[in-house]
Amino acid sequence: MPDKSSYLILGGCGFIGRNLVQYLIDNDLASTIRIVDKVLPALAYLNKIHDESFKNPIVEFVNANLLNKNSVEKAFQNETPFDYVINCAAETKYGLTDAIYDEGIVNLTTTCAKLAALHNAKRFIEISCGRMASLKTPHKESDATDPWTPIANYKLMAEKSLSTIPDLKYTILRPGIVYGLGDKTGITPRLVVGSIYKHMDETMKILWNRNLMTNTVHVKDLCQAICLVGDREDTLSQVYNVVDVGCTTQGHINDIVSEIFNISTSYIENIFSALCKLDFDSVIEEINDKHSAPWAAMCQKSNVTNTPLSSFLHKEYLYEKNLNLDGTKLAQLGFNCQYPNVTKEQVLEFLIVDVAVVISDSDCEIGDFSEEFLVSVANQSTSSSKYRFVFIFLLLYFSYPFRKQCLLIIILMTGTKNLMIIILPVLDEVQYIMQHVSS
Ligand SMILES: NC(=O)c1ccc[n+]([C@@H]2O[C@H](COP(=O)([O-])OP(=O)(O)OC[C@H]3O[C@@H](n4cnc5c(N)ncnc54)[C@H](O)[C@@H]3O)[C@@H](O)[C@H]2O)c1
Repeated sequence: MPDKSSYLILGGCGFIGRNLVQYLIDNDLASTIRIVDKVLPALAYLNKIHDESFKNPIVEFVNANLLNKNSVEKAFQNETPFDYVINCAAETKYGLTDAIYDEGIVNLTTTCAKLAALHNAKRFIEISCGRMASLKTPHKESDATDPWTPIANYKLMAEKSLSTIPDLKYTILRPGIVYGLGDKTGITPRLVVGSIYKHMDETMKILWNRNLMTNTVHVKDLCQAICLVGDREDTLSQVYNVVDVGCTTQGHINDIVSEIFNISTSYIENIFSALCKLDFDSVIEEINDKHSAPWAAMCQKSNVTNTPLSSFLHKEYLYEKNLNLDGTKLAQLGFNCQYPNVTKEQVLEFLIVDVAVVISDSDCEIGDFSEEFLVSVANQSTSSSKYRFVFIFLLLYFSYPFRKQCLLIIILMTGTKNLMIIILPVLDEVQYIMQHVSS
């Protein structure tokens, strides 16, 4: 980008928006960033890393509902127009009515894009959706579309509406399943389910076969793509798939989940799979019934009363559809994934940020993660005196010559499984201390 630019991030409190804020700050790309969202940052379950980014002096927050024309105008009002407008705002919940999607996706995008054109933004970048067709072979941007979820359907309508707005300089990105720090709807639902089967001590039974394509992209690579396309003239009015090179299948993701929780998995294939297709709605209802009680029990056991995570799986999440994207067009611009495929380490990283580094010294097996572990992730804000007590020991552990002895005391106090639960809420402090000690 030419020097530093000003960014208007619509829907900036969401998963992709908050990571984009962090990416722009970390890479020193922005002169100013305005985040616009209907949700306040304090209510957006930001982790400490993203919270820090939001507190950066170049970041400003504007609370606005982008369905309201006056609010959209307020969002764009600035002394000098914003260089880049990135639209991460949309209705992203599954299972809503057509009217809500029409309003929350098509109308929202169209209204914001018109304002971007009026304010002569250098680029309006629309984060669209990769579920535009289910094919065995990778879907190219120029191929025929047949969106298989209502959200994808309305996203396609929003894409089309952009091409009708005079003077709008826009680029459309169609990501695969996005994962990374703060993910709640990409890979995380599978982790929630994995933790439930760990709790029930049962084999995790999965619909369809392990070769079902579920292509992915790390959120930092999506941010890289946003900055790349925004900087080039030849990307004007173009559509790009954004996908890693790992050709991720559901089998690959489920293998990681089963390894993390030390559970076995099996696939409901052949005749049983055909039966599921016949009465898909009932199958989904049965699955959700099976998961809800154990999840509630797990949350109760760990005193989690309020969490953005849920055991409920919408049928759109479980369709037998191939999310199979061809990323060649973006690669030809020089896009190079920093995260070529999903690994267990990355999944653990976004679950527990960098705590894996802490436990690698302690002989704690990844399979030791108990069901409480995951709900603890959902309850990161909790920090009782017990945690503080362990924190002091951790402090000793990282700064004192008797590291092994201190760790032994911590393990005796808590057990290896609980050690993880206890480390988690003080993770940021642990990282801070580690940096401090090493410098
Ligand atoms: N997460 C993924 O795996 C993924 C994959 C492909 C495409 N996408 C698309 O990328 C975009 C961002 O996704 P996300 O995962 O960050 O979603 P998200 O739900 O985490 O974030 C969306 C944000 O938009 C805000 N928002 C919604 N309606 C608004 C309104 N009327 N006014 C103001 N703010 C509003 C929400 O409050 C939320 O903070 C969406 O359009 C989504 O469909 C996401």
